[in-house]
Amino acid sequence: GVDPRLQAIKAAIRVVPHFPKPGIMFNDITTLLLRPKVFKDAVEIFVDRYRDMNISAVAGVEARGFIFGTPLALALGAKFVPLRKPKKLPGEVISESYVLEYGTDSLEMHLGSVNRGERVIVIDDLVATGGTLCAAIKLLERVGADVIECACLIGLPKFKGGCWLHGKPVYVVVDCR
Ligand code: PRP
Repeated sequence: GVDPRLQAIKAAIRVVPHFPKPGIMFNDITTLLLRPKVFKDAVEIFVDRYRDMNISAVAGVEARGFIFGTPLALALGAKFVPLRKPKKLPGEVISESYVLEYGTDSLEMHLGSVNRGERVIVIDDLVATGGTLCAAIKLLERVGADVIECACLIGLPKFKGGCWLHGKPVYVVVDCR
């Protein structure tokens, strides 16, 4: 049957039309974070999926991937690795850029944070075009990590029920509206 937690998760995400630009429907997770039981359920869905999978690192995408990624890493007994926007990390980094509607952005990762052969989950709040997750996967592949799956709380309907980005499976908990 359908996971009874999903309805509450979906209902707790606020949809804000025309933010941050006209025509964009912003799926806002801050309202979910105000409901501790629902927030806990969301994290537990990821924990249940990835426990016993020998995951040694969770890589969270700035900014909202940090919110779901840190409790997941702690529950799995894995390291947490922040994938950050440019010029935020003080150490030696590698960088991957991705295309936005207007211009480009990039993600950076500290060299030495993930080792060759490590089993990694990449996590973010939402997947839309998939450009951000692809950049994250490429960063991890450059250091020889094994990306087991990308996990997102929210995704465009096309990602629901199994989709692949850059050869890696994408797991989405609820559709965006
Ligand atoms: C949002 C979201 C994902 C990304 C998904 O972040 O949190 O990281 O966009 O979009 P994509 O699948 O089309 O790449 P945003 O760019 O708003 O950055 P922020 O988290 O720093 O606000």
